[in-house]
Amino acid sequence: MDIRTTGGTASAVEIAAIDSVLGEPASIWEGGARRPEDDHVAHGGWAARSRRPMLLPVLHAIQDQVGWVSRGALEYACRRLTIPPAEAYGVVSFYARFALEARPALALHVCDDIACQSAGADALGRALEAGFGPAGTPGAAGSAVWYRSPCLGLCDRAPAGLAERAGTGRGRAEMQVAPLTVDVAQVVLGRGEWPEPGERPLPQRAGLTLLRRIGVTDPASIDSYRHHDGYTALRRAIELGPEGVIREVTEARLLGRGGAAFPTGRKWDSVSRSPVDPHFLVCNADESEPGTFKDRVLMEGDPFAVVEAMTIAAIATGCEQGYLYVRGEYPLARHRIEHAIAEARAHGFLGGDIEGTGIRFDIEVRRGAGAYICGEETALFNSIEGKRGEPRNKPPFPVQAGLFGKPTLVNNVETLVNVLDIVNEGGAAFAATGTPDSTGTRLFCLSGHVRRPGLYEVAMGTTLRALIELAGGLREGRTMQAVLLGGAAGSFVTERHLDVPLSFEGTQAIGATLGSGAVIVLDDTADMNQILLRIARFFRDESCGQCVPCRVGTVRQEEVLRRLLSSRDGDARQGDISLLNDIAQAMRDASICGLGQTAANAISSAVMQLGVVGGGHRS
Ligand SMILES: Cc1cc2nc3c(=O)[nH]c(=O)nc-3n(C[C@H](O)[C@H](O)[C@H](O)COP(=O)(O)O)c2cc1C
Ligand code: SF4
Ligand code: FES
Repeated sequence: MDIRTTGGTASAVEIAAIDSVLGEPASIWEGGARRPEDDHVAHGGWAARSRRPMLLPVLHAIQDQVGWVSRGALEYACRRLTIPPAEAYGVVSFYARFALEARPALALHVCDDIACQSAGADALGRALEAGFGPAGTPGAAGSAVWYRSPCLGLCDRAPAGLAERAGTGRGRAEMQVAPLTVDVAQVVLGRGEWPEPGERPLPQRAGLTLLRRIGVTDPASIDSYRHHDGYTALRRAIELGPEGVIREVTEARLLGRGGAAFPTGRKWDSVSRSPVDPHFLVCNADESEPGTFKDRVLMEGDPFAVVEAMTIAAIATGCEQGYLYVRGEYPLARHRIEHAIAEARAHGFLGGDIEGTGIRFDIEVRRGAGAYICGEETALFNSIEGKRGEPRNKPPFPVQAGLFGKPTLVNNVETLVNVLDIVNEGGAAFAATGTPDSTGTRLFCLSGHVRRPGLYEVAMGTTLRALIELAGGLREGRTMQAVLLGGAAGSFVTERHLDVPLSFEGTQAIGATLGSGAVIVLDDTADMNQILLRIARFFRDESCGQCVPCRVGTVRQEEVLRRLLSSRDGDARQGDISLLNDIAQAMRDASICGLGQTAANAISSAVMQLGVVGGGHRS
């Protein structure tokens, strides 16, 4: 089949959407009207090509206005940016949230991932199919469409949805809707209306450090933030100077909270020492690991803290430009962060002369478009650069050659927010909490079958049992089946592991991982077979397809698992278990990035720990 990457003409609405990001075209060379001088002087070319990083913002602008990216709109965008259409097509088609076929302006994404599945998402999906037709097809009225979605980062309010309406008619709007009931879904799809998300208090009030301002300060007010210690850490960081800040972060022994647990101080030191200029700072707010929502809560509830922490990191490592790459499915977090950045700029905390010191730093917000792999740091760089989100080979590491090939500091949202207390109170004070190897507190996202799902903060080393008890424990009369620690890339543990200390070394000792802080508790009503198949489907869908072990391995893993779970033949099942082990080993050994290396973890652990071989469902 031929792929037609161009054809048709951009509509006036599409042209206006693209020009709203890029400005009016200056010449025919970048898509404007012909002027006499265009016959003699070529404009566009390199100047337009150097704006390649604007490709994703341009695609978002088109989709926001029209609901999908037509060939005509893509062609006009390519002329404006001097990008070969086939290459731009490769980019649009990489990201799940961009539609390349016409679709209704109104869409509802319905999560059917682990926590939502265990809260009735399957029944919700069946009701929507009956009322509005199969997922992905416009219903009878043709005015709305619904899609099945992987985790939307609202697992504590499962089942969850994300409603979006393109800008034609009643204007562009986007909103997370949770819990999503059949009635609410009918109103969204039928009338294009949805409830405002009220502020949701944290389930835990005592013992909060990182989360202490959430629900207390007004996330839209810089004065409220300053009233609660805001911007004291920046002043202290300016007094300490770059070396002093890095010394405190190193002494705190802070390990990255994004999943890889790399020592933050060492990373900051490497970037600050790099003689290559410029240096870039990237805050990784792509949070797409199923079961994880901590960064969303931080950005929605305490956005100025994220901005202040990024400013301190930039000053310490000599970055003048920062990017915050936020998950496309987090509209509220994005709006609050954008507002906080504008306020910080207006008050002299960002810009060309921070706090009268002459230091320059500013932040640009970039929006993801539905690709889990873009949380991997080098895939994220490619995405900011306007490319497909495919991970790069390492080395070189980001601290040597990251975003735009320059030394780059990339840190997770939670990691960065920890730095405020480290600077204010000193690294040694920070390291006094937690265990010697895992210092500080940690955010855990509790979902599934606990009485009070939500975000919790406890000292590193707290046991899994104590954490689950903090969340109210299991529902009355139920027994524990399993806990998925660390999200889909993590592993299942069982009741006999409940006393494991939740620290990097504690979980490692039982062959598990803290990962992104996801803790999905599953009682005896959970259908483990369906959950394992959902995990396998997740990795099959999200593999970027760049390397064979992961591209083929994730497909084979799902096939073999499906066969294994439906088979009653003992010998055939044993054969499939060893085949799954072989696939897992090949993915671990030969994949380029962490996605392929961890894609078999949860399934392998379920087969080992739970003996899930054709019948883990014990309801
Ligand atoms: C498939 C994959 C997805 C990832 N997703 C995220 C993510 O959503 N957020 C994040 O901070 N780190 C994520 N990471 C880890 C990042 O690559 C990187 O290690 C992290 O952002 C570094 O920040 P830290 O040192 O503060 O943890 C992911 C890694 C992989 C392999
Ligand atoms: S391991 Fe998977 S996600 Fe990572 S680069 Fe290879 S194909 Fe892409
Ligand atoms: S929002 Fe549905 S599993 Fe996370």
